[in-house]
Parts: sequence; structure tokens; C-alpha cells
Amino acid sequence: SQALRVGVAGLGTVGAALISQVAHRREALTARCGRGIEVVAVSARSRGKDRGFDLKKMKWFDDPVALARDASIDVFVELMGGSGGVAKAAVEAALAAGKSVVTANKALLAKHGVKLAALAEKNNVALNYEAAVGAAIPIVKTLREGLAGNEIARIYGILNGTCNYILTRMEQEGLSFADCLKDAQRLGYAEADPTFDIEGHDTAQKLSILASLAFGTKVDESAIYVEGISSIAPADLAAADELGYRVKLLGVAVKTPQGIEQRVHPTMVRKDSAIAQVMGVTNAVTVDASGINPITLIGPGAGGAATASAVLSDIADVARGLRVMPFGRPTAKLASVRKAPMQRH
Ligand code: NDP
Ligand code: HSE
Repeated sequence: SQALRVGVAGLGTVGAALISQVAHRREALTARCGRGIEVVAVSARSRGKDRGFDLKKMKWFDDPVALARDASIDVFVELMGGSGGVAKAAVEAALAAGKSVVTANKALLAKHGVKLAALAEKNNVALNYEAAVGAAIPIVKTLREGLAGNEIARIYGILNGTCNYILTRMEQEGLSFADCLKDAQRLGYAEADPTFDIEGHDTAQKLSILASLAFGTKVDESAIYVEGISSIAPADLAAADELGYRVKLLGVAVKTPQGIEQRVHPTMVRKDSAIAQVMGVTNAVTVDASGINPITLIGPGAGGAATASAVLSDIADVARGLRVMPFGRPTAKLASVRKAPMQRH
């Protein structure tokens, strides 16, 4: 059957890695999906930039919104970033034009996820965002599909690769915060504005998405207590070490009788605990689900290749005709978050 025609807006760290993976895995993807996957059109800010692949084979758009609604594509992939602006306009245009959307943009979903999901449902198309949380770790599909029959009591974990990378290198090499952050930016882990990473907002955006999937609530970042790692110095990590602890930036969402408790902050974890072993850009998410022992997923949490891997799985889902309600239940049924007071766990 006909190849799935993909339009990609955003050719930076993730977009360029995606183009490379689609090219390298062409035959395997065709075999897996029963049809080919072709990137036929692209958009970015600068047409002249050398991106390491041949742009001539693809239709170029200066305007991502025009690409999103263009008749030459079947699915629109948004990899530009930003919680509104052109990313939101382009995603809305694609959904309204009846095209499925794949995005890695947690900032956009944290702010407008419910409205976008409703638009996707109305137009009978997919809104896939596996890459938005935990990069390569399939935590969205695990919560939405794998645990659809369970009641979730708690989710917690390390959800920001940049912060875990910084904390690891500060602890192991005694480097300054600023130097570690620079390296995280150079390696393509950090957000365009890295304050989102280091002040905990990126973790909060991801946690708000996971909480919605787990508890059937509206995505609501404002319901989360947030504290980042920017004031932590190597001396703090050394002090924790002397006491037998490591510092990790954790995101935690717990269902309590009073409502949902959600928080993001640096946490002392015992050095012999499983979560303390998660080092570098790796992320880890633990889910406490009814009837089974806790499930922990651990894997690459940021970077071009890791993120493109999840984007590609979402594109493959579209190619295979899989479509699930974006937050795992009818959008109209998502409840408002009832905030519970913070407790010790
Ligand atoms: P980059 O900054 O590397 O790339 C952004 C791309 O978007 C660039 O190609 C840029 O064009 C393009 N772009 C930006 N604004 C516009 C615009 N107005 N019109 C057209 N194109 C535009 O970001 P990343 O690849 O790192 O991240 C992309 C998305 O993926 C973000 O939502 C991010 O949060 C998410 N993500 C990133 C991860 C990572 O590890 N990097 C992990 C998980 C999610 P140009 O190149 O010409 O400047
Ligand atoms: N900046 C993010 C991080 C990218 O470091 O985790 C992955 O979402």
C-alpha cells in the first residue's frame, strides 16, 4: 500500500536524528508497518543551515503552519518546541485539517494538551506524544495502553536528563554546575531555554502529563509544587554523600483520599536504593499499579537519537492505523485536579 507521507517541522537535535533514523531503518519500517514511511516535506527557521542530510529531496516550507495543512502530507510531526506560538498554531492546523500529529513537545501539551486532544478526537485523528516524557522510555504507552485495566496509586521518578546529568557529573567529577550545564547543552539534552530544566519546570510538565494518564485528570502543571536544582553545589552533594545519600531531582504524583499530590524537588535518596543508581542522562519512572508489583522503566531520557526513537514509534503507530484517545479516555471525561496537601512518603 501507499507510503505514509510525513511532514516534519523542526530539524534541530531531534528532527535531524529522526530524518536519519527514518532513512537508516527504511526497509525494517516497511516490513514492520506493511507500508513505507517517507519524510516528504520539512520546515525550520533557516533554510541554508547544513543539517547533514539532503534537503533537496523534500519539499521546503518557511511556514510550519502551511506545512501542517499541506495536502502533500498525511501526518505532521512537530519538533520545534514552545508552549504556544507557531508550535500550537501548526498542531491545531494539522488536526483541523484531519491529519494525525506526532510531537515531543511537553511544554505545549502541559499547557494546551486537553484542548488539542479534544480537537484530535473531534477530527478522528491521532495525537501521539511518546517522546514528550522520558524520551526513549515508553512510559506514555505503558500508562495509557499497558496499564489501562489497573488503578494507579503513585508515579515517581527522574524525568529530566539534563538535571540528572548535571547532578551526576558534579558528584563524580566535582565539576561546577555551570560547566555541567554547558556540556548538557552541547550534547543536545537541554531545552532551548535551560531554565526549564534546572528550575524543575520540564519535570513538572512531564509529571502533569503522566498524572493525567494515570489518574484521568486534566493536564494541570499549576497543581504541582516545583523546586529545581540551580542552587545545588558540589559541596551539597559531598555532604549528602557523607551521610550515605545522593541528591536526585524527583517528580512524584500520588493519589490520596484528599486528592492528587504532585511535587518536583531535589530529594535525598539512600545510596543503596535503586533510584540512586540512575546516573547521567538516564531517566527512571516507577508506577504503583493495583494488583501487581511496582513497574520501573529505566532508559535514555534526552538527546536526539533517544527522542527520535520514540517519535518514530509514534509515526509507526499512525502508519499501522493505531489510534488511541490521547489521554487514554474520552477527553470530556477528564476531571479537574483536586490538589492534596503535601505529605511525607
Ligand atoms: P532544537 O532547538 O534543537 O530544534 C528546534 C528546531 O525547530 C530547529 O530546527 C529550528 O529551526 C526549528 N524552529 C524553531 N522555531 C521555528 C519556527 N518559528 N519556524 C520553523 N522552525 C522553527 O530543539 P530540540 O530538537 O532539542 O527539541 C525539539 C522538541 O523536542 C522540543 O519540544 C523539546 O522540548 C522536545 N524534546 C527534546 C528532547 C531533547 O533531548 N533534545 C527530548 C524530548 C523532547 P533552525 O534549525 O533553523 O533554527
Ligand atoms: N531537556 C529535557 C531533559 C529533554 O533534559 O530531560 C528531554 O525531555
